Amino acid sequence: MIEELLKIKEELLGDIKKLTNLKELNEVRIKAFGKAGAISNLSKGMRDVAPEDRPKFGALINIARSEIERELELKNKEFEEAELNKRLQEEKVDITEPSKACEIGALHPISDVIDRLTDICVDMGFSVVEGPEIESDYYNFEAMNIPKNHPSRDMQDTFFITDEILLRSQTSAVQAREMEKRKPPFKIVCPGKTYRNDSDATHSPIFNQLEGLVVDENISMADLKSMLTILMKRLYGEDTKIRFRPSFFPFTEPSIEVDVSCPNCHGKGCNICKGSGMLELLGAGVVNPKVLEMSGIDSKKYRGFAFGFGLDRTAMILNSIGNIRSLYRNDKRFLEQMR
Ligand code: DAH
Repeated sequence: MIEELLKIKEELLGDIKKLTNLKELNEVRIKAFGKAGAISNLSKGMRDVAPEDRPKFGALINIARSEIERELELKNKEFEEAELNKRLQEEKVDITEPSKACEIGALHPISDVIDRLTDICVDMGFSVVEGPEIESDYYNFEAMNIPKNHPSRDMQDTFFITDEILLRSQTSAVQAREMEKRKPPFKIVCPGKTYRNDSDATHSPIFNQLEGLVVDENISMADLKSMLTILMKRLYGEDTKIRFRPSFFPFTEPSIEVDVSCPNCHGKGCNICKGSGMLELLGAGVVNPKVLEMSGIDSKKYRGFAFGFGLDRTAMILNSIGNIRSLYRNDKRFLEQMR
């Protein structure tokens, strides 16, 4: 038996020496230690050994087992290392190769202007709200003190769905909606799409506005002017000059229009400001008490100021865009320039 054991051990160790890969290694492992493996069979053969020889024989089997296991383990390590080196070699990355360009998106200039303006307003304590683009004649016109058949309706010809339902021609429509909902004091801004029956290089049937409304006690034109001055300087730069001109809107009294020095030429005159050095940017004013009353706000106690920006114009000025239609064509080449 002992002789047989030594023979088997030598044979297995010989096999191990000749191994060339992991697959063969596993075959030898099974040949030795599998259910019907040579070493397993020797253990089973113990019962044929004389009882007094059994301890010695058992010890020899154990020695053979650990020797074979050790050799298998060494080979295993060797193969694993070789495998790893092979993979490292094959999967080597050449970091000097030029990389594949990955496309980076950009915000649409209108979204960018909305973000910038609302950020500034939120810093000043305004809440950002939204309103419906499909609006009633009441909120868009009547509640803004623009009655049916009033000549000022001509300034804002829009798209009517029925006699009473239309695409809003101004974000001012949210003013009445918010006044009905809220209790003063409050400050809101509302960016959004607006529509008019207009189309040329500076007018698009769809465009964007940002409306602002503040209602509180003791509000005056001075509050409006200082707030707009801060807003304009933060948007266009500290050295921006601001001009307030008297104007007319049915929903404000008094009403003003606001111009800023052209950020492109700083007031000298260029093609963006058409040589005037100034750019007309928005309408504003002290809310007409009639408008407050129509929406259920006590005009003896409260006053308000409001303003309405054209966002397309702002985006065009900030990005030197010549034609408003570029903003709505979804031409990728145009958008790529906005990065
Ligand atoms: N809604 C006006 C327009 O579209 C702009 C405007 C002017 C809004 C004065 C206001 C305002 O809130 O007070 O032409």
